[in-house]
Amino acid sequence: MSSHGAAIPMTSRPCGPLKGVAEVPGDKSISHRALILGAMAVGETRITGLLEGQDVLDTAAAMRAFGAKVEQTGPGEWSVHGVGVGGFSEPDDVIDCGNSGTGVRLIMGAMATSGITATFTGDGSLRLRPMARITDPISLFGATSYGRSGGRLPMTIVGAADPVPVRYELPMPSAQVKSAVLLAGLNAPGQTVVIEHVATRDHTERMLAGFGANIITKDGVITLTGQPELKPQDIVVPRDPSSAAFPVCAALIVQGSEVLVPGVSQNPTRNGLYTTLIEMGADIAFENERFEGGEPVADLRVRASLLKGVEVPASRAASMIDEFPILAVVAASARGTTIMRGVKELRVKECDRIDAMARGLEANGVRIEEDDDTLIVHGMGPGGVPGGGTCATHLDHRIAMAFMCLGMAAIKPVNIDDGGPIVTSFPIFEGLMGGLGAQLVRANR
Ligand code: S3P
Repeated sequence: MSSHGAAIPMTSRPCGPLKGVAEVPGDKSISHRALILGAMAVGETRITGLLEGQDVLDTAAAMRAFGAKVEQTGPGEWSVHGVGVGGFSEPDDVIDCGNSGTGVRLIMGAMATSGITATFTGDGSLRLRPMARITDPISLFGATSYGRSGGRLPMTIVGAADPVPVRYELPMPSAQVKSAVLLAGLNAPGQTVVIEHVATRDHTERMLAGFGANIITKDGVITLTGQPELKPQDIVVPRDPSSAAFPVCAALIVQGSEVLVPGVSQNPTRNGLYTTLIEMGADIAFENERFEGGEPVADLRVRASLLKGVEVPASRAASMIDEFPILAVVAASARGTTIMRGVKELRVKECDRIDAMARGLEANGVRIEEDDDTLIVHGMGPGGVPGGGTCATHLDHRIAMAFMCLGMAAIKPVNIDDGGPIVTSFPIFEGLMGGLGAQLVRANR
C-alpha cells in the first residue's frame, strides 16, 4: 500500500539521452519550517515556492489544527496567520503527519512547551520510526509523552505548562532533533543551548534569526533566547537540492545527456552529494551563483560523465544524508567501488535505506556489501547495470525515485512495487523526468 492509497507499481525503461531544463520544486525542509515558524509568529507570513508535496501539506493541516490560519493563495503561494510563541490551542483531533518524520518531530518540539496536549500519528512507515530522540529532550523542558512500545507513534505529548530552558548535547547528528529542541526552547524563559558535534542542516537557525529571534551559533554551540515575539516574514523557498539530485544523477549516468537544473541550494550543510559527484569525475558546471531566499544557490549544468568509485568519508554523511540512495545508483554505473561510511542513520529513515538499496541493487544484478554503518557498491561501469529486477520501496519516496533513475541507465527495465510515496516530496517527478526523456510507466495504466 502507498502512503495515501493503493500501491502504484511503476517501471522505468532504459532511455535515450536526457535533455532539457529540470525545475524541481521547493525545499522540503525549508517548507516545513516556514509553515511552523509562520504559525508561531504574530501576524501574516507569506510564503512563495512552498513545496506542495504531501509531507508539507500534512504540516499545513497540523498548523491549522493548532489554531493558525493557513491558506493557499496561489500555486506555491501560501499565507500563514500565526498565533505567536506559546499561542497554540489544543487540537480537537489526532494530528496525522502522514509519512513525514520532519513534520512530526518539529511539531512535537514546537508544542512541547505550550501547556497543551496533542496526539500524533502517521502512516505505516512513520509509525515504525523512533521518537525517543524527541521525547527525551522535550522531557527536560517538562513535557510528558505516552507512546507505543519502543517510543513509537501514535503518541500523546502533554506540553510543559511551566517550561524550563534546556542545555542539550545531540546524541546523533540530526537536524530534526536540533530543530525540535530549538522550537521547544522558543517558549521557555531564558537561554536554551544545543550542542552539535557534526554540523547538520541549519535552516531552522537561519529562519529563526530571520523571524527576529536572538540566536547565536559558535563552534557547534547554538544559543537561543526564549520567549521572543517572532515577526512575520515574506519567505521565498529555494528549490530542493535533495530533489535536484534525481535529475542531476540521472543525467550523469544516461549516456549523451545534458540537463540544466536551475536554482539548486549550495548551502554547505546540504551539498555533500555534489562534492562527492565531482570527486567521482562528474561534469557539473555551477553557473550564475547567487542568493535566493537567504540561501546560496547556483544553476547546475550537468553532462553525462565517465564516473569512478570513491570513498565517502563518515564526516560528510550529515551533509548528504538524504542523497545516499541516489548516490548508490550512480555508484552502480561508475567504474570501481564506492564505499559509503558513517551511514547508520539511514537505517531509521522512511525505511531502512541501507537494506532497501542493497536488496534492490542486488535484484538488478549489482554486487553490494553492507554492515551496520557502511554501504559498498561495486560499480558495473557505464551501461553495465543489468536491471530487470523489482524493488520494494517500503513507503519511501527516495528509494522509489532512486530505482526509477537506475532503470533509465540499465540494460533491462527496473520495476518498483509502489511509486505512490513519491508525492510526499516530489509530486511532479514523473512529468518532469518524462519531459527530459525518461520512460516511466505505471503498471496499472
Ligand atoms: C531533515 C533532517 C534529516 C533529513 C530529513 C529532513 C530536516 O533528518 O533526513 O529528510 O528537515 O531537518 P535527521 O534529522 O533525522 O537527520
